[in-house]
This record gives sequence, structure tokens and C-alpha cells, in this order.
Amino acid sequence: MPLNLKEDEMFNSKITGLGYYVPENIVTNDDLSKIMDTNDAWIQERTGIKERRHVVKGDGDTTTSMGVKAAKIAIERAGIDKDDIDFIVFATLSPDYYFPGPGVLVQRDLGIKTVGALDVRNQCSGFVYGLSVADQFIKTGMYKNVLVIGSELHSHGLDMTTRGRGVSVIFGDGAGAAVLSRTEDNNTGILSTHLHSEGQHAEELALIAPGMGSRWVNDIIADNDPNDESYFPYMNGQFVFKNAVVRFSEVIIEGLKANNLQAQDINMLVPHQANLRISQFIQKKFGLQDDQVFNNIMKYGNTTAASIPIALTEAWEQGKLKSGDLVVLAAFGSGFTWGSAIIRW
Ligand code: ACO
Repeated sequence: MPLNLKEDEMFNSKITGLGYYVPENIVTNDDLSKIMDTNDAWIQERTGIKERRHVVKGDGDTTTSMGVKAAKIAIERAGIDKDDIDFIVFATLSPDYYFPGPGVLVQRDLGIKTVGALDVRNQCSGFVYGLSVADQFIKTGMYKNVLVIGSELHSHGLDMTTRGRGVSVIFGDGAGAAVLSRTEDNNTGILSTHLHSEGQHAEELALIAPGMGSRWVNDIIADNDPNDESYFPYMNGQFVFKNAVVRFSEVIIEGLKANNLQAQDINMLVPHQANLRISQFIQKKFGLQDDQVFNNIMKYGNTTAASIPIALTEAWEQGKLKSGDLVVLAAFGSGFTWGSAIIRW
């Protein structure tokens, strides 16, 4: 493993394949209004969401299986074989098991040889964190092709009653994947990534349930009431919103400055799909046109670690990412964690 690499000894990583998978089952705002006190107007006005996908219980889809479906598409589009994958990074907040994480399940289900598999637990920033990890491994020459997956199965763990409406209307299920490959051209691919965290606000968007997590190891799980609201995610929505708009902006500016670039240089911003109002705020702040910011939260809700790779794949499929374009990814979420990636497509 080379150490103290000089610039001319380093490589760039480039996204060579993208794929996504969402379950077929569409849940509209009107569907939700039948099971809780909410309505289409409130949800659209506050979040921009019209519908989201939910896995139908018992149909076999899991966080891992959705990730595998997205990964197969990404690998095929990258024009490589699964055995060319040198490393797997899997980002999720909704793993199939408490442990082991989904990374090893992907290695098994795709029949990839015994390469390393890493699980990333950074919620909405998970994909940007995962991309950054993959990028570092490729930059230093350690790996040639890294598979990065973001996948979430939220719907089975949400409080689908009026009590949980502030959170449950927002989140949806789905998966996205990217193959990062080595390129000798240091002017293209991932130019830089920028990661942050502020654990002081860890409990402002969290799932903290007795029996779940080593902090509660002395509790007897069987004694806990499954209807206890602490079993569902909690979000201090307005506090999270206020922090999100600040941190999104900061980390985009940080990434642009690191590359001597300016907002005018951005061709496409693909923000984590947390709330359409957050995306619109960022768009206005950076003076971007409608066609310079990719949003699909209307169709899928917030799919957390999957949101950026799903959006990136759709943007690519729609021909919105052209060779030479400056593409900026930015995310903020639970932790708090946030990050950006500056990419020359
Ligand atoms: N339907 C109808 N009414 C609702 C609903 C609903 N689904 N949810 C809440 N309300 C009510 C509330 O009870 C409240 O009523 P009250 O005024 O009578 O008390 C009122 O609507 C306003 O509620 P707020 O929570 O203040 O609504 P807000 O405008 O803040 O919107 C939202 C809530 C959409 C959650 C917003 O705060 C938000 O998007 N926050 C940021 C989310 C985010 O970025 N998360 C980070 C990524 S996620 C991750 O990392 C896992």
C-alpha cells in the first residue's frame, strides 16, 4: 500500500455506473390521510411530496435486496463484472439485521468474491460519506472498482398513526447504487468530498428505543411495549430544518472553494431529498435555475441514504448529466452529519 503519495502518483475516481430500484407499491398522500389525520395539501405545501413507495409486507423486499437490485444495474452499466468489484460500501439507517450489516449480505447475494464490505451509519449523509470512503480507496491506488449502495426500508418502522404523522409522511423506501472506478484523468471524476458532524444534536433526529442499542443492554426487550412511541424515529422537524439550510449551504461553499470554483460553475446540484422547501432555499441562495437542481422528492419522499443515488441515476437517465459538467452532491441529516461531493462528470 503506497504511502505519502505525490499528486502524480494518485488517481481519480469516476462514477461509471448508476442504478436504482424502488418498490412498485405507490402510497399517495390521500392514501395516508385514510389512516392518519393528515391531508395532501399539508404534505405538499410543507414538503413537496406527492407520493412515496412502500414495500408491501411479505413481498420479500428488504433493505439488502433492494440494494442488490440497484447494484446489479449499476454494475452492468459500468461495463464490469461483479468479480471486478474490489470493495463494497453500504449506507443505511434501516439495516435488515441489528448486525451484521447489509454490506456482507450484498457480497453474498451478488456472489462477489470475498472482498471487504463496509457499513456506513450516517443516515441522510450516508451516501456522500460512502462515496468519500470509496474515493479515498481509489485515489490512493488501493482499489480499482468500489460499489457504493444506499438503501432504506423505512415504511415498516414508521408510526403510521396521527401520533407519528410529522415523520411518517416524509419517508419512503428505495435503493440507489454507484460503481466508482479508477480513472487516469485527474481532471474528471470526484474532485473532492467534504464531511462534517455535530453529535451535540444526536437526539434531535433519532431512534432511541429501550432494547435497541447497546446502551439498553440491561433492559429486558420482552418487557417493552411495542406501542411505545420511542420505538419510532423522533424528529425535531423545525430545528432540523433550520440546521439543514445552514449546513447545506456551508458545505457546498466549502466544496466549491476547495476547487477554486463558484456557484456559477455548477451545472447540476443533486441535493439529498429531505424537503422540497430546503432544495428551493438552496437553489435561490446559489442563484441556480430550475433545470440546475434535480428534485424527485415529489415521487419518492425522503429515502435517506438512497435519495442521492436514486436522484443521480434519474438525472443521468434523463440525459441531464453531460461529460464535463460540474455536478454537486450535498446532504444533511441525523447525527447531525452533512457532506458534499464536487464532481466533474
Ligand atoms: N399532516 C397534517 N398536519 C401535520 C402533519 C401532517 N403530516 N405533521 C405535523 N402536522 C401539524 C403539527 O401537529 C403542527 O400542528 P400545530 O401547529 O397545531 O401544533 C403543524 O402541523 C406544524 O408542524 P411543524 O412540525 O411545525 O411543521 P413544519 O412546517 O416544521 O414541517 C417538516 C414539518 C416537514 C418535518 C419540516 O420541519 C422538515 O422538513 N424538517 C426537516 C427535515 C429534514 O431535513 N430532515 C433531515 C434528513 S432526515 C434524516 O437524516 C433521517
